[in-house]
Amino acid sequence: MTEETLRDSTARPDTPDAGAQPRPAADPGPRFGEQGGRLTYGTYLRLAELLDQQVPESAPPAHDELLFITIHQVYELWFKLLLAELTDARDRLLAGETYLPRVRLERCLTVERVLVQQVDVIDTMTPQDFVAFRAKLAPASGFQSSQFREIEFLSGLKDPGYLARFRGISEGERRRLDARLAEPSLWDGFLAVLAKAGFAVETAEQRFAAYARIAGDRERFGPLWDLAEALVAHDQGFALWRARHVLMAERQIGTKPGTGGSAGGAYLRSRVETRFYPELWELRSRL
Ligand code: HEM
Repeated sequence: MTEETLRDSTARPDTPDAGAQPRPAADPGPRFGEQGGRLTYGTYLRLAELLDQQVPESAPPAHDELLFITIHQVYELWFKLLLAELTDARDRLLAGETYLPRVRLERCLTVERVLVQQVDVIDTMTPQDFVAFRAKLAPASGFQSSQFREIEFLSGLKDPGYLARFRGISEGERRRLDARLAEPSLWDGFLAVLAKAGFAVETAEQRFAAYARIAGDRERFGPLWDLAEALVAHDQGFALWRARHVLMAERQIGTKPGTGGSAGGAYLRSRVETRFYPELWELRSRL
């Protein structure tokens, strides 16, 4: 920005021209953004704290460790947003709403596409550059991402066995995961909406009868069908991430075991078939 434009953009609209008669202008009050006058971009976003959190373990720092830390932190920020959106969707479903839960799920799907896409960034790291610092981070592993597991639990995939396998879990993480296991999932919310619409949802047979009616009469049950499709899309978003993550991991470490102690690629492959809503996938085969 030139000095001139800077001066222009900061000039008050009521500043009198040089030489002109001063006008008794009404005080326009503070300009938009000046009301509080407390915040800057950096203080609002807590950038000093945020940008102080990328601390490499290698010394001298291996070049790619900053990338590795940054990408994981970015994932965790998106996971935090997903948890907020999915929690709100679940609460609204339990209250019988359909419109906003679908809107929330659509935002989640858009974020999930970003999660898959940004694997491209880590693929720019070569395996030999990863080896330069990998030993430093063991036994830390993405397996210990409690937000990732919270998303799974909240979506409906509740595996309490995970808590037993999570080494070094903090008290706060355990509390949050226990709470997610105990509270209703998105799937419970979906079934609550179906029940409110008059469908019996106790047994699998009843539920498949409900899905078939909804699928067969979209004119009448459009919002319920759209909701079911939004759940499938969310499920697909995570399935795509799991598939992409295996390739990312194998591209870096081949058949080596993971830093978290699993068999590595073989373990991740066993997770690729995981689905949040198997009944909605099964429905396809029955139509
Ligand atoms: C160099 C890149 C990466 C490699 C080589 C890698 C490797 C692995 C391996 C081998 C596992 C299995 C557990 C273990 O034994 O450690 C794992 C799990 C996991 N990783 Fe990664 N990972 C990479 C990047 C990422 C990134 C960027 C994320 C984003 C958050 C991530 C999230 C996860 C999650 C959530 C799991 C648990 C998956 C499950 O249990 O279903 N990983 N990773």
